[in-house]
Amino acid sequence: MGEIHPGGAISARTALCGIVLHPAGHTRSPAMHNAAFADRAIDAVYVALDVRPESLPAALAGARALGIRQLAISIPHKQAVIAHLDEVEPLAAEIGAVNTVTLRDGRLVGSNTDWIGATRALERETAIEGRRAVVLGAGGAARAVVWGLQRQGARVTILNRTPARARELADALGADGCGALTDLAATPHEILVNTTSVGLRDDASPVSADAIAPQSVVLDAVYDPEETRLLRDAQSRGARTVSGKWMLVYQAAAQFEAWTGVDAPVDVMAQAFESAAPGPTVRGSNLGSSS
Ligand code: ATR
Repeated sequence: MGEIHPGGAISARTALCGIVLHPAGHTRSPAMHNAAFADRAIDAVYVALDVRPESLPAALAGARALGIRQLAISIPHKQAVIAHLDEVEPLAAEIGAVNTVTLRDGRLVGSNTDWIGATRALERETAIEGRRAVVLGAGGAARAVVWGLQRQGARVTILNRTPARARELADALGADGCGALTDLAATPHEILVNTTSVGLRDDASPVSADAIAPQSVVLDAVYDPEETRLLRDAQSRGARTVSGKWMLVYQAAAQFEAWTGVDAPVDVMAQAFESAAPGPTVRGSNLGSSS
C-alpha cells in the first residue's frame, strides 16, 4: 500500500490507482477513493482511465510494468480482463467477472467486490440468510448479485425480460427458480434487487408496482437517479428501500480494504459519492456495480 503521509500532496512516492472503463462517461469512483485515501492519510491517487476494448491487453501489461497498485474494472471489461491476469481469486472465477485488479508481488490478481456491494447494501435493512430473494435481470451485474445472495444464504429466483437468459443464469449458479419479469407478483420475496438498466435513462420500472411485496426490502442497482421509479413504487407499497448508491459505495470500500488493509471510511465515501453527482445533462451510464 501507499505510505502514510500528513500533507496529501502528490510526491515521488505517491501510489497510482485507477478505474478502467469505456467510454469514460461519468464515474464517481475517483471521488470516492481519493476521499478515502485523504481520510486515512494514504499516499495514493486514483484516476479514471478510458481504455478501449482492443487496448485492454496493452493497458494491463502497462499497469504491471508501471506498478499501478489497484485498478477497478468497469464496463465493458469485467469478463474480458480475466484472460490477461496472472491470477484470479476463486470466487471471482465462479462469478465469472472481475471488477478489481490488485498488484501483489508484481502479479496482477483479479477479484470481485460487486457481490459484497450488493449484500452489504441490503444488510443495512435486512438479514439475508434464509430469505427469499428475487433478482431482476440476467446480465453481468445479476451474476455477482445472485452469487452474493446465495453465498449469504438466500434462496434466489431470477426474473428477466428474456426468460431464456434467466434460465441460463439460474442453471449456471444453481438458483432456486427463474422466469419472466411479469412473474414477480406470483413469486414470494422478502428481498428484491433490480440489476436491469431500466430506470437509468427514463423514469420507468422493470416491474409493476402492484407486484412488489409490501414486507420486502428493495435494492435498485441503478444509482443515477438515486430515487428511481422502482424505489418510489416500493415505498408506496410500504416496502423498505436501499439506494444503488450503497451498492457502489460498499464495493468500492471492499476494494480499498483489499489493497490497503485499512478499514474503509464508508460514510466519507458516501459523502464523496454525493459530491461527485453529475450535472443534469451528464447522466452516468452504469449500474451500482463498480463505476
Ligand atoms: P449488465 O452487465 O449491466 O447486467 P447486460 O448484460 O447488458 O448488462 O444486461 C442488461 C440487463 O438489463 C438484462 O437482464 C436485460 O434484459 P434482456 O436479457 O432481456 O436483454 C435487462 N434490460 C435492458 N433493457 C431492458 C428493458 N427495457 N426492459 C427490461 N429489461 C431490460
